[in-house]
Amino acid sequence: MKKTNVSAVVGVQYGDEGKGRIVDYFAQDADIVIRYQGGDNAGHTVINDNGKFALHILPSGIFNPDTMNIVGAGTVVNFDTMHSELENIREKSGLEIDNVFIDSRAHLIMPYHCDLDGAEESKRASGDKIGTTKRGIGPCYTDKAARFGIRAGDLRNTEFLQKRLEMLVPKKNRELEYYGLKTYTVEDLMALCDKWLKEFGDHIIDTVPVVREAVESGKKILLEGQLGIMRDNDWGIYPYTTSSNPTVGGACNGSAIPAWAIQKVVGVAKAYSTSVGGGPYMTELFDETADRLREIGGEYGATTGRPRRCGWFDAVAADYACYMNGVTDVALTKMDVLDTFEKIKVCTGYMIDGEYYSYLPETLLQERAKPIYEEFDGWMEDTSKCRTWDELPEKAKAYVLALEKLMNTKITYISVGPKREQLIVR
Ligand code: GDP
Ligand code: IMO
Ligand code: MG
Repeated sequence: MKKTNVSAVVGVQYGDEGKGRIVDYFAQDADIVIRYQGGDNAGHTVINDNGKFALHILPSGIFNPDTMNIVGAGTVVNFDTMHSELENIREKSGLEIDNVFIDSRAHLIMPYHCDLDGAEESKRASGDKIGTTKRGIGPCYTDKAARFGIRAGDLRNTEFLQKRLEMLVPKKNRELEYYGLKTYTVEDLMALCDKWLKEFGDHIIDTVPVVREAVESGKKILLEGQLGIMRDNDWGIYPYTTSSNPTVGGACNGSAIPAWAIQKVVGVAKAYSTSVGGGPYMTELFDETADRLREIGGEYGATTGRPRRCGWFDAVAADYACYMNGVTDVALTKMDVLDTFEKIKVCTGYMIDGEYYSYLPETLLQERAKPIYEEFDGWMEDTSKCRTWDELPEKAKAYVLALEKLMNTKITYISVGPKREQLIVR
């Protein structure tokens, strides 16, 4: 097999594992960073010399002017929020930021997608709510699958766009009327598309030739996933999922990279766990330990500000995630958050209806699962200043080695703080 330099960074829990921080670390010398799925529902926190940023649709390589950043074919793009995100970052960082390109095949999040996201969620019964970010992600991917979508490249083809909107708008308006929402005219939407074309037209490209050349010449490419496997539309806690595939299969599909070329897959996991939104979460805690994890870990959504549900590390789900993604290296983040916990638990199996499960079952069974825990001694020392494996307390090392064994995958990176330099490479 030809040698390539393509790595994927994927979430192996429920999202918010610290992907932005890990991608930022790798992106320092990357030629290309590609966001391959999702939209501005992401909240990827990056803290570097330029400041602290929550990136939503922009890839985490934008701070390196030599890196080409691609919003891939598998994403859904809201050009209005992308515009304000770019303006905010330019203002805060003082950087030009002219290194972002959108594949012409990426689907556009239209205003009616956002309206419908909110309306559909409000119709769901309280126990059934997905807790979406209301960014229009689900309705936009729905239209994509139903072949009713508008793609970034369509902006350039006015006649085609007009025809598509004339066919689509009456259908969308019927849906909006059903929910008692304001409707749109073709003229309104054509004007919006024209504004987007003026703002982004030069940055909408066919990424295949560029990406192919980069793959074949061994350039360093990073694929940045959004969310994590537990919210994957096929392999996660359906229906409490997002509408795309954060797993590595989605990375091939959404970024013009053939499967064989991805020779390194970094699975990002927190040293405990969190989840935002509905659905089963087997290791969730409801006691003061959850409150401590939330406060010490700053566990509030980067996009919606919602308090995150918190709990212990689920090694059964993480092992599943490593297998499903072909993870070659785990990046374990937020080790420092556990510094003051006397006892730390890890889930190593489940009891469901009186039966023992050593593997992750599907959603309906997860709702009835009771976790079985193994308990570890906490290290009760500050790890945030550790920069090498040897500097870590012995009990912290023991915890890492135990997780590694349970996941059957090497933990190569250990993050002990949100800053670029707070990383141990083993
Ligand atoms: P993402 O969506 O996977 O990129 O993760 P988020 O940015 O939503 O959430 C991760 C949060 O943890 C952010 O606030 C990061 O700044 C922070 N963070 C990342 N790694 C570490 C770490 O090792 N220690 C601490 N204390 N915070 C971290
Ligand atoms: P990052 O990339 C955490 C959750 C929502 C909801 C479900 C579907 O920062 O990890 P959607 O708006 O995608 O239709 O919502 O997924 N969710 C996230 N949770 N981090 C995110 O992004 C999320 N993006 C969506 O809470 O349960
Ligand atoms: Mg996040």
